[in-house]
Amino acid sequence: MKIVAIVGSIRKDSLNMYFAKTMQERYQDKLDIEIADIRSLPHYDQDEENNPPQSVKDFKQSIADADGVIIITPEYNWSIPGVLKNALDWASRVEKVFIGKPVFPMGVTMGTLGTIRAQLHLREILTGLQAKQMPAAGNEILIGFANQKFDAQTGRLVDEQTLSFLDSKIEVFIDLIKTV
Ligand code: FNR
Repeated sequence: MKIVAIVGSIRKDSLNMYFAKTMQERYQDKLDIEIADIRSLPHYDQDEENNPPQSVKDFKQSIADADGVIIITPEYNWSIPGVLKNALDWASRVEKVFIGKPVFPMGVTMGTLGTIRAQLHLREILTGLQAKQMPAAGNEILIGFANQKFDAQTGRLVDEQTLSFLDSKIEVFIDLIKTV
């Protein structure tokens, strides 16, 4: 299955990016996970949406071609980062590539609340985009206290309990994709 991962942080040592890379490696036998380049997307501009820059075309095409999308985001000021909202705004117009697309929201933070407020906002946005969201109940990937769960050298998630929960929820996501 072809999956696009969109990461809401563009900093070099992003925990959310490390988490995306953990999944890319861990599930490589069953999922082909491509991490989208949202850093290169310009600010959304309605004047440009019918003939957008190549980076926008490529981003939208990768979502259109994917069987599912995983969005992995930090929480910024109780919501999602602007860089992620910008990417979703581009994807919401002209060819509306999120309509009916299976999407699994996730998030990582060193804090206690596991990005819950960001994910709730993200789910509202995904409702506007008419995505097919992973049902939230029982399937929330809220990774708090990340400094205790990632290997400081490799940057990979190593907490066994979290990994085993994630394994089971990835199977639920695969089942959701199969229903589309
Ligand atoms: C944050 N952070 C943060 N954390 C949180 O739990 N709730 C919040 O509202 C915010 N707000 C916020 C705003 C801004 C501008 C920054 C830079 C940070 C902390 C944030 O979750 C933490 O830095 C994460 O580690 C960022 O994710 P990456 O970059 O490691 O993936």
